[in-house]
Amino acid sequence: MPILQLKNICKDYIQGKEPVRVLKNVNLTMERGDYVAIMGPSGSGKTTLLNIIGCLDVPTSGEYLLDGKSLRDLDDDALAEIRNRHLGFVFQSFYLLPKLTALDNVALPLLYADVPLKQRRERAAEALKAVGLEERMLFLPNQLSGGQCQRVAIARAIVTKPDLLLADEPTGALDTRAGSQIMDIFRRLSQEGMTILMITHEQAIADCAHKLYHILDGELHGEEADTHGI
Ligand SMILES: Nc1ncnc2c1ncn2[C@@H]1O[C@H](COP(=O)(O)OP(=O)(O)O)[C@@H](O)[C@H]1O
Ligand SMILES: [Mg+2]
Repeated sequence: MPILQLKNICKDYIQGKEPVRVLKNVNLTMERGDYVAIMGPSGSGKTTLLNIIGCLDVPTSGEYLLDGKSLRDLDDDALAEIRNRHLGFVFQSFYLLPKLTALDNVALPLLYADVPLKQRRERAAEALKAVGLEERMLFLPNQLSGGQCQRVAIARAIVTKPDLLLADEPTGALDTRAGSQIMDIFRRLSQEGMTILMITHEQAIADCAHKLYHILDGELHGEEADTHGI
């Protein structure tokens, strides 16, 4: 069964007094283990789409099935539960808490998931090791570079072992070298079986994924040839 199915998803925003259709009949299916990029220019609807997939917003019409279950009639609490149990998020801005160490930032989602303290620390340390930051676990965000902060954010996203990792312009705030380190981590996570959906406006970043879709004016256009990550 697909991990994700979007069926004719539309999203309207009121701009001025008129509703404007920002997503137009978007259809997308992802299987477990897929590594998908959606590429499109600024304003094409990428963040709107990712917010819907991430249960941060709801569509105007259409159906969204996560692991075969329709999310249509879920209330805010149920959607928050799905975000915490099933999804991991990486954003362009890292959103780390400045007064918490890397370790405590990464452990935070486990607190919300009621994991006991000792296990929280162990699992956060393991996730930081997976992104190559075992030497910097007790550093504060302002003692880390942008690329290192994004690696902490990735550790925080994977520490709950999500079914689907969502990334909105994950390299957008980074230089090329730090960006390619982030793509190395995504490649490794994908090889280990993580399902990843990443949006970007950069071709070189999109090329790191195994399947590529384009979004233009709110329309999602077909998959290109499956490159198997070359
Ligand atoms: N909350 C909102 N209210 C009204 N219009 C919005 C809102 N969010 C986004 N939009 C509009 O929807 C379109 C798509 O935005 P967005 O999904 O952020 O694009 P992208 O991430 O591809 O740059 C843009 O025209 C934007 O102005
Ligand atoms: Mg955006």
